[in-house]
Amino acid sequence: MSSSVTGVIHDLERILLSPEEIHTRVQAMAARLNVELAGKVVTVVALMDGALFFVADLLRQLEIPVRMHTLSASSYQGGTATTGEVKVNWPAGVDLRGQDVLLLDDILDTGLTLSVISERILAQQPASLRTCVLLSKRRQRLRDVPLDDAGFEIDDEFVVGYGMDYMGRFRNLPCIGILNPNKPS
Ligand code: IMP
Ligand code: MG
Repeated sequence: MSSSVTGVIHDLERILLSPEEIHTRVQAMAARLNVELAGKVVTVVALMDGALFFVADLLRQLEIPVRMHTLSASSYQGGTATTGEVKVNWPAGVDLRGQDVLLLDDILDTGLTLSVISERILAQQPASLRTCVLLSKRRQRLRDVPLDDAGFEIDDEFVVGYGMDYMGRFRNLPCIGILNPNKPS
């Protein structure tokens, strides 16, 4: 690992998931989608910025035809707790009517973000909607979200890395970890 990446990892209290563990799990999630969505053309709706790395790794292992839209949604505004209000930047021209939609996000926490986006997708009358996240926190949800697959169930702790940030930082970590509360530098 390069010295600059090692430097950032020093801001972590501990590593929760190594790059290898993430890779193996994402591979298995892709294998399942390849079987379950065989014969379909899939329209991926990917939530930026957090799901960027997950989506890039997962989609490159899909053997089915894929279209992709990216949406920006934010409820954290840089901190470690949801503001309770989800801001969605829905691009003009996204029409999901009759499409087999695969909604992808980095992490399911309160459920607010995915419930707001799923309602918006369902209002467009897709043929089907499947929702997958890389991480699902073990906690009470504020809203129910029908989830088809979650890479890992984790404790209710704030995580960074592999696309996920704290105050805009740490997205580039190849692993997923818990921040050192006395840092970050
Ligand atoms: P929810 O709306 O509370 O379910 O939160 C979902 C969004 O909050 C995710 O898409 C993430 O962008 C962000 N988020 C939730 N938990 C974490 C975390 O532990 N680290 C980084 N981002 C998080
Ligand atoms: Mg997000």
